[in-house]
Amino acid sequence: MTSFWSIWVIVLTLACLAICLGLLVWNLKNYTGVEEGESCGHEFDGIEELNNPLPKWWTYMFFATFAWSVYYLAAYPGLGNWEGVAKWTSSNQGVKSLAESKQATLDAQAAGETVQLDKEIERAEERFGPLFESFAKRDILDLAQDEQALEIGQRLFSQNCAQCHGSDARGGVGFPNLTDTDWLYGGAPDQIKTTLLHGRVAAMPGWKDALGEQGIKEMTAYVLSLSGRKVNQKDADAGQAKFAMCAACHGMDGKGSVAHNLPFGAPNLTDNIWLYGGSQRAVEETLNNGRAGVMPAFKDTLGEDKVHILAAYVYSLSLDK
Ligand code: HEC
Ligand code: HEC
Repeated sequence: MTSFWSIWVIVLTLACLAICLGLLVWNLKNYTGVEEGESCGHEFDGIEELNNPLPKWWTYMFFATFAWSVYYLAAYPGLGNWEGVAKWTSSNQGVKSLAESKQATLDAQAAGETVQLDKEIERAEERFGPLFESFAKRDILDLAQDEQALEIGQRLFSQNCAQCHGSDARGGVGFPNLTDTDWLYGGAPDQIKTTLLHGRVAAMPGWKDALGEQGIKEMTAYVLSLSGRKVNQKDADAGQAKFAMCAACHGMDGKGSVAHNLPFGAPNLTDNIWLYGGSQRAVEETLNNGRAGVMPAFKDTLGEDKVHILAAYVYSLSLDK
């Protein structure tokens, strides 16, 4: 916060407090010229206004809240840039990098400052550790039939994956549907596990410069025709003639990396299932500027045992399909 805004906030806050306090004090005095408990001389539908004082308990509580607010504003940060005499912070706000943050956490643990968190983690490890370990020893194909493993897998999925793939795992634009049998990187248990452990980074180059506006239009027509869409046949033929430049990743038939045992994660372009949308506009956007979807790695954050269970859960989603 710049010092101008800091002062602005301080002035507004204190002015509000002063006004409220002034109102309260003013209301404690009797300015009406009418004795306490007597009528002020108004009547509304038979209801008379009497000159009654503010209730004592209410007034004392109001003063108490003032005392509290003054203490609070002095002790804690909040009044502009004021740090508060208690020097309280919500976190290690001076931490600038991930390495620093990790170090700060270790320091806090060593100093016994994260007792509750440590205890809870320990308790969870004690309770679930052996369970996860026993699951980790079993085959993913076998786990994918185990109700308890799948239940845990689903919970892990809600916590770690749903924000991108959706709570039903059906994905969205740019985030693959995990419940169909259309895979970017392969749907075999080991392939899924590799995806989760190490993450994936897609690299679909942009072709604006190489193809030009007309070339993009033709290639878009050809790509759409692969999914059986009605297109301008002349454009599609012209696109097909240049498709060799796409074949390294999508295969000459456009069926994608998985169909050709390639590691690139290039989608099948012939199934009318679209990661980034199948409208002419969306495909043109893909071809012009390229795409680079990133699936984060979970090896360090979740550990192998949990990833193993998650792989079984993901595998189970497309069973019987
Ligand atoms: C930050 C968003 C994000 C999170 C969180 C995330 N994913 Fe992904 N995931 C992606 C994206 C994006 C891709 C596609 C990468 C690409 O475009 O090549 C992907 C790809 C995948 C794939 C490969 C699908 C295929 O067709 O081969 C699987 C499996 C997967 N994610 C499972 C998970 C699981 C399980 C979790 C939770 C542990 C998870 N993802 C968390 C964004 C995310
Ligand atoms: C270097 C490998 C590579 C080459 C070459 C390549 N692609 Fe891709 N393509 C990919 C990858 C990887 C993706 C997935 C991008 C993502 O997941 O973010 C992709 C995605 C796409 C998509 C989006 C599909 C969807 O479901 O939304 C289209 C369309 C596409 N490519 C067409 C082409 C065409 C046409 C060419 C040739 C001009 C081409 N690609 C060349 C790797 C490649």
